[in-house]
Amino acid sequence: MPNHIIINKKIQSFNKKIRVSSDKSISIRSILLASQAVGISEITNLLESEDVINTLKTVKKLGINYKKKRGVYHVEGFGLNGFDIKKKIIINAGNSGTLARLILGLLVKSKFKIKLIGDKSLSRRDFSRVIKPLRLFGVNIKSNNNKLPIEILGTNFLRPITYKEEIGSAQVKSCILLSALNTPGTTLINSKKSRDHTELMLKFLNYPIKVQKKKNIDKISVEGLNQFKAFKYNVPGDISSASFFIVLTLLSKKSQLIIEKTNINKSRVGIITILNKMGANIKIKNKKLYNGEEIADIYVKSRVNLKSVNCPPKLNSSAIDEFLIIFLAAAKAKGVSRFENLGEMNKKESKRLDLGVNFLKLIGIKVERFGNNINIYGKPNLTLSKSFEIKNFLKDHRIFFLSCIAALTLGGKWKINDKKSANTSFPNFLKIIKMIGGQIN
Ligand code: S3P
Repeated sequence: MPNHIIINKKIQSFNKKIRVSSDKSISIRSILLASQAVGISEITNLLESEDVINTLKTVKKLGINYKKKRGVYHVEGFGLNGFDIKKKIIINAGNSGTLARLILGLLVKSKFKIKLIGDKSLSRRDFSRVIKPLRLFGVNIKSNNNKLPIEILGTNFLRPITYKEEIGSAQVKSCILLSALNTPGTTLINSKKSRDHTELMLKFLNYPIKVQKKKNIDKISVEGLNQFKAFKYNVPGDISSASFFIVLTLLSKKSQLIIEKTNINKSRVGIITILNKMGANIKIKNKKLYNGEEIADIYVKSRVNLKSVNCPPKLNSSAIDEFLIIFLAAAKAKGVSRFENLGEMNKKESKRLDLGVNFLKLIGIKVERFGNNINIYGKPNLTLSKSFEIKNFLKDHRIFFLSCIAALTLGGKWKINDKKSANTSFPNFLKIIKMIGGQIN
């Protein structure tokens, strides 16, 4: 089977109801917390993507067994620090920054050295952001210049920390929260806003955690060494996966789509706020609260006359994984859209800001760049007829999805490589595209 796809045709108008893959952030967290619970947790609708499978493999290496029975994952935990740690364990986090950074927080008491490795993309990413707080807890860490491979050796003398998290990274915040579980006393984090799934899941488990939401930061306090029991959890749809279908619908003619049972946590829906500022009129219906997370159906229709946006940087963290596809909407909007302070995009699975700008230029869009700020000169009548080949994008799943949506909405003849990258977060992406009428070879 070739590892590329060909798209030579725009998608025809559609009117469908879909469900996208389950949320990746929540899937990973549900396994990691189940590994620290007492008893057998049951996780329904777990995302079966590579990042999540690597999370299952990781806890298995650490002595936690799991089984899939009639679609439900049963994960057997033995309580906090209940890992069975053997000598010379190597954990391979694959492509997943979330797994790599969060698992370190659960290894703070490891009695033997554990080595953490990852794929080419993960091996170029920065780990100083978690090494710094982990060392403050008292953990021993060796790294390759703050990159993988990392060796972690825990301690029995953990001390609680007070930490200012200034990046706005949920991975850093969650690594600290997980470290705090095994640490006596109260750990305090003043965290720049970022997705709060870990906090919500700990609250759902009745764990002693307090969150005070201030204007720009969250003040979090966690009491260590409190045990929680096994739990049942049903993972909702991923807004980051939904975002590609939202923009596909907006940019297609006479189409509408309902995306059911999607997580609409406030710390994740920046894309909807930004697209609605551009005139998209996306609606959220049937809101429900499930285990602390908000779930709803997203209603979206074609929009031929999108307008440009001056994107407030305070929305950056709640749309951090969606900017690539937001840039495509800006490319078709009337006027010049402005985005600021997007440096974090270059620290993801690939240098997404650089690649995003190159992508826009490739499809004939004028982009001005000043450091980490960009201006996108939209062309509402943009249609393509040339040939395009997308390759060398470090197999970044989101660049793959962006390329497919561009091909299906703008025209042209596209060869898009590294099809398998979809397995990182959204294995049935192409199946859903075909189900709503997209022609892919
Ligand atoms: C994630 C947090 C974000 C996001 C990533 C998933 C998480 O990264 O980009 O895809 O699950 O915590 P940062 O925390 O580094 O911003």
